[in-house]
Amino acid sequence: MSRAVLPVCLLLLVALGRAGAGSEPDQDQGAEEHPHPPGKGLGHTPWSYEDRDRWSEDYKDCDGTMQSPININMANTIFSPHLRAIQLSGYSLPASERLKLRNNGHTVALELPQSLAITGGYAQQYRAVQLHLHWGATTGPGSEHTINGHRFAAEIHVVHYNTKYDSFKEAMVHPDGLAVLGAFLEMGPRDNPYYQEILEHMHQIQREGEEVWVPGFNIAGLLPANLKYYYQYNGSLTTPPCYQTVKWTVFNQSMLISRDQMLKLITSLRNDDGKPLQNNYRHMQGLHGRRVLASFQTTFFSPKQLPAGSDSSAAPEEHSSSSFQAGDVLAVLFGVLFAVTALAFLLYIYKQRSQNARLDSPTKSKVIYTAATTENTA
Ligand SMILES: *[C@@H]1O[C@H](CO)[C@@H](O)[C@H](O)[C@H]1NC(C)=O
Ligand SMILES: *[C@@H]1O[C@H](CO)[C@@H](O)[C@H](O)[C@H]1NC(C)=O
Ligand SMILES: [Zn+2]
Repeated sequence: MSRAVLPVCLLLLVALGRAGAGSEPDQDQGAEEHPHPPGKGLGHTPWSYEDRDRWSEDYKDCDGTMQSPININMANTIFSPHLRAIQLSGYSLPASERLKLRNNGHTVALELPQSLAITGGYAQQYRAVQLHLHWGATTGPGSEHTINGHRFAAEIHVVHYNTKYDSFKEAMVHPDGLAVLGAFLEMGPRDNPYYQEILEHMHQIQREGEEVWVPGFNIAGLLPANLKYYYQYNGSLTTPPCYQTVKWTVFNQSMLISRDQMLKLITSLRNDDGKPLQNNYRHMQGLHGRRVLASFQTTFFSPKQLPAGSDSSAAPEEHSSSSFQAGDVLAVLFGVLFAVTALAFLLYIYKQRSQNARLDSPTKSKVIYTAATTENTA
């Protein structure tokens, strides 16, 4: 009978190893809802961040079920090893190329030449059109996306459209039309020279509609150095008309700018009312069953990931990256722990048998029960 115990132990050992390595989490993010009355669909009317919860009265798409931004709950993201690093091309611009920087009343926007493109990480190719920022006020942060409920100081969006369409305007109404790259901005110890290329001109565009031509620079410097780790989901423009045509990429790595730079970002611009242009972010939108993919393994200690028999659609493990090996360590730890327990148990059985030949052998279910207990208390 005890000979049958070993295969069972090995089987459980394998199962435990898999669970410890961080398999696929559950996808429901349980984000907060912002219900809107049915939209009148007038379109093209002016909008402001003050009435951001009533946008759908004029722009019916703002009431949809695939809206952005969202809160990204890392434990509920789905690790997808086939998501490759984002590849940018043509992002390094010579100073001789002039770019238009504009205060459009909602944000500061830098127009980008069409030579900038996303050439990897997405299934299709996208051309850049524009980048802009979202920020808070001196009293609080203002990123649009949040991670585990945490709002970052600010957020950059680099807007691209699918090259299969002739223009951004045409692309923006098609489900596969747009790709936006987003990254968080946080306060760091020094000035960021790339962000300085934009921020040093903020005082020239204080009023809505003002614009200035700025020298080209390496636009990629505004995005994280690490383009391998990101989240991806299907969403929308975060301003009216809120078209649900954006494949979002939100990077895991944040950008750092100095405190002075952050202050400049937050306090320089005014909106159409002549008031400080601040808190230009939209509130979190409901997930409505959407999945959020992650190109990297996120947490390992979520209780949802421990039970055996997890999602069968779990993506295969990939160990090409060096920074996420906590799962491997955990797997080995669980394995060793289990092996020790199993051996001790086997020893115990043998002892019992030699002491009392008549003793009933333990059943399979008893062995499994012991294993499960070990796992839950580990
Ligand atoms: C986004 O939508 C496309 C097209 O409907 C779909 O193939 C893809 O799986 C979706 N992505 C996610 C992360 O759900
Ligand atoms: C990036 O990933 C690390 C490790 O999983 C995590 O601690 C951090 O909160 C993540 N940050 C963002 C912005 O996703
Ligand atoms: Zn934006």
